Amino acid sequence: MEDFRARKRRGERITALTAYDYPTARLLDESGIDIILVGDSLGMVVLGYPDTTLVSFEEMLHHTRAAARGVKRALLVADLSIGTYDTPEMAVANAGRLVEAGAAAVKLEGGASHVGQIEAIVRAGIPLMAHIGMLPQSVREEGGYKVKGRSAAEAERLVADAQAVEKAGAFSVVLEIVAPEAARQITARLPIPTIGIGSGNDCDGQILVTHDLIGLYPWFTPKFVSPAVHVAEDIRRAARIFTERTRSR
Ligand code: KIV
Repeated sequence: MEDFRARKRRGERITALTAYDYPTARLLDESGIDIILVGDSLGMVVLGYPDTTLVSFEEMLHHTRAAARGVKRALLVADLSIGTYDTPEMAVANAGRLVEAGAAAVKLEGGASHVGQIEAIVRAGIPLMAHIGMLPQSVREEGGYKVKGRSAAEAERLVADAQAVEKAGAFSVVLEIVAPEAARQITARLPIPTIGIGSGNDCDGQILVTHDLIGLYPWFTPKFVSPAVHVAEDIRRAARIFTERTRSR
């Protein structure tokens, strides 16, 4: 975990992508990605739920086990899904189950409100990645995926959240859909790396949902993502080729 702070000091960018299965995790690992996240975005891009609030912890464990089999080198982080870290005791117990499933670190959503959970997990010897800004597990209360930190007051609150999670022992913090200027300020004021998603170019690293990056979930692409390839098109083409070959014997 110290390595991530050192990389921030040296100005080296950190790369992170999601994986929920063995082949994807293995391909990302072989490609040199620094961090592989078994995110609860699993629920949307793999399981077909409308948001991450329906993901069960058993599903997280199942997919963490699968991804872990493919990872030899990268840091494998797994998400604590909704309702699994309501108290510090629950957070420690469930973080431990993700580690048993093969994760090297865990992530939870929340800032100053979750200092107790973060301290307890770190005290139990489990590295913790924090997640502030837009919190997908709260999307229903929030009424959508909205940019955070546009006003000075909201930016200050985010800085306070970031400082709180750092003080509690987080080794890095995801900034999700944070206004770029607020993300820049947080990044400048923290000794641990910020990993941005839709939060501008000034974070210490970037994370994306792999399905968005590779165009494997073509029905919705977040505004801030430029797919690097279009795998959905390749799958459709392959299925058409197979169909033609089969029908023409
Ligand atoms: O679940 C997830 O994939 C995430 C990333 C988008 C940061 O939390």
